[in-house]
Amino acid sequence: MSGNELKYIEKVFESNYIAPLGEYVNKFEESIKSYTGTSNALAVSSGTAALHLALRVLGIGQGDDVLASTFTFIGSVNAILYQGANPVFVDSDDASWNLSPKLLKEYLESCDNKPKALIVTHLYGMNADIEEIAKICKAHGIYLIEDAAESLGATFNGKHTGTFGDFGIYSFNGNKILTTSGGGMLVTPNQEWRDKALFYATQAKEPFLHYEHTEYGYNYRMSNVLAAIGVAQMEVIEERVAKKRQIFEWYRECLEDIDEIDFMPELPNSRGNRWLTALTFQKSDYMRIVEALEEINVESRPLWKPMHMQPLFKDAKAITNGTSEQLFAKGLCVASSTIMEKSDVKHICQTIKENL
Ligand SMILES: Cc1ncc(COP(=O)(O)O)c(C=O)c1O
Repeated sequence: MSGNELKYIEKVFESNYIAPLGEYVNKFEESIKSYTGTSNALAVSSGTAALHLALRVLGIGQGDDVLASTFTFIGSVNAILYQGANPVFVDSDDASWNLSPKLLKEYLESCDNKPKALIVTHLYGMNADIEEIAKICKAHGIYLIEDAAESLGATFNGKHTGTFGDFGIYSFNGNKILTTSGGGMLVTPNQEWRDKALFYATQAKEPFLHYEHTEYGYNYRMSNVLAAIGVAQMEVIEERVAKKRQIFEWYRECLEDIDEIDFMPELPNSRGNRWLTALTFQKSDYMRIVEALEEINVESRPLWKPMHMQPLFKDAKAITNGTSEQLFAKGLCVASSTIMEKSDVKHICQTIKENL
């Protein structure tokens, strides 16, 4: 927490407005707008809800193909299933570890069933090659949705991830760079779409005094109490990004003499938020390292298992090049909490070195 969370929560209680609307919901949306430069923001109950609303507003449904990064967390793609659409997974490239623009272009130039949209993830807070990806989507007339759940604060040529496409989403889940304990934000340059998303997020109530419904909706709005936490958290976003990047640099310094270790790259002209420090081992079995870290009470996790390798998606279409499978086979996320100090990182690196 940053310091002002309880103060703002008390204000919410004083106002007696603990509903999923109120002053802090508006303030939180305004602070995301002014920080990221987006023109419309909608605070919702989770990043997953935000993705679901984006697909629903764009009219994506039964039988539609939706492209998505395969190297991601399942929260990126569950909403495709909620809409009865078909995910088509696209592999990563070595330059970014994120979605390969080359594979995307080749697929779009050759496919019979044109996808309606692409959900591209900026994994671990690091930019996908988003300008190139946006250009390809535009040329092929498909909607672009950015899953910036992990990448609040990351920029490409100075522009925030989440603001390049038709929709962007951020997550404020408990583990993210900022948290509201749980929550999300949908952003879009299109005000009509934002209004439609609000309509669906609040049970699709038609504008009558009585309750009138012509469509079904969801209960996806963010509570004023959680938004108060979000407003306080936004006050320290730049500090958090700086600290995450510092933690990454500490890891890099400590491990730079080990040839077999590679870190997740940062594309030129971009600034990632280094949400989690991600690295790969060319030779060593990372499970030995995971176990050794566990012994000193430090958590680490394998990189995300690609979606096309998940049993749930065994029948889904996937355009692969082996990159994400290799990353999953060789990679780990190491502890990256902003409460960590250099001595913690050194301690972890020492354990890694002893177990190579
Ligand atoms: C890449 C990615 N997409 C989507 C989500 C879903 O966000 P939420 O947990 O807020 O629903 C998360 C995080 O949980 C995520 O890491």
